Amino acid sequence: MQRRPPFLKLLALSVVMLVGASPVAAAQPDGGSPQPYPASDPVMAGLVAARLVASGVAALGITTTGDAARTTSTRALPACAYRDIKTRFRNLSQWRTTLVDTRLRVGSSYRPTDLVSVGKANIAGSGQVRRIIIDDLKAMARAARKGGRSIAVRSSYRSYTYQKAVFRSWVHSSDYKRALKYSARPGHSEHQLGTTIDFRSATSQRAPWDYHDWATSRPGSWMQKNAWKYGFVMSYPKGKLSTTCYGYEPWHYRYVGRALARKIHDSRLTPREYLWRHYESAS
Ligand code: DAL
Ligand code: ZN
Repeated sequence: MQRRPPFLKLLALSVVMLVGASPVAAAQPDGGSPQPYPASDPVMAGLVAARLVASGVAALGITTTGDAARTTSTRALPACAYRDIKTRFRNLSQWRTTLVDTRLRVGSSYRPTDLVSVGKANIAGSGQVRRIIIDDLKAMARAARKGGRSIAVRSSYRSYTYQKAVFRSWVHSSDYKRALKYSARPGHSEHQLGTTIDFRSATSQRAPWDYHDWATSRPGSWMQKNAWKYGFVMSYPKGKLSTTCYGYEPWHYRYVGRALARKIHDSRLTPREYLWRHYESAS
């Protein structure tokens, strides 16, 4: 049984009071198997509450979804509106520059054909990723281990259908507006690309979002400093809600290859800003 800071218990209680006690079907927020759980479950409620605090959820103007014409004539980063526009680079071979965000998506049939077990990278945890990320994932896991900061996989590839269940569970456990801040709608998740991983500390089964800030743990801070050298970029850094459109997720890294990861790192832009500016909006 994990020990939980008292403030989380307090938050859990508040959420329990808010959401009531009716049973709902829920997925692990990272995409573990959807499981039925009572909304009054303090573990789940605490988690939702903690993420509400961590992401500094703000009131959000939500616009309706629907297929809309692509508007890439400007390089200015579009606001965090909710649309269902097919992203520009959506072939499996264009994985480095495929931008999915709250506006842009891949199709429901987008499914990498080279998925392999993460175990191939000699890293703890389960799930699948694209074969193309294995070598660098292996190198990164080895380097982290050597430094005494072992990392493991908490969540990896998620199909369109799976993401649908994950998002729905967040809606049930909080509400639609808030769910949008920490979960992508189906088709909009980087996890569907097969190149994105939620990491955790290898020495504990504790979920990374159960930490006050996983980036301050030894493995989390190692990742923040070094992941880019192996081709992985943190998609949703702290304090960037208005540009990434999601709350802070210090565990969520997307592989873009070493060359592009270096460019993104050096630019000091978030991956969304960088991909928009250099690829998606390019004429
Ligand atoms: N948590 C991120 C935004 C996702 O659902 O892909
Ligand atoms: Zn993630």
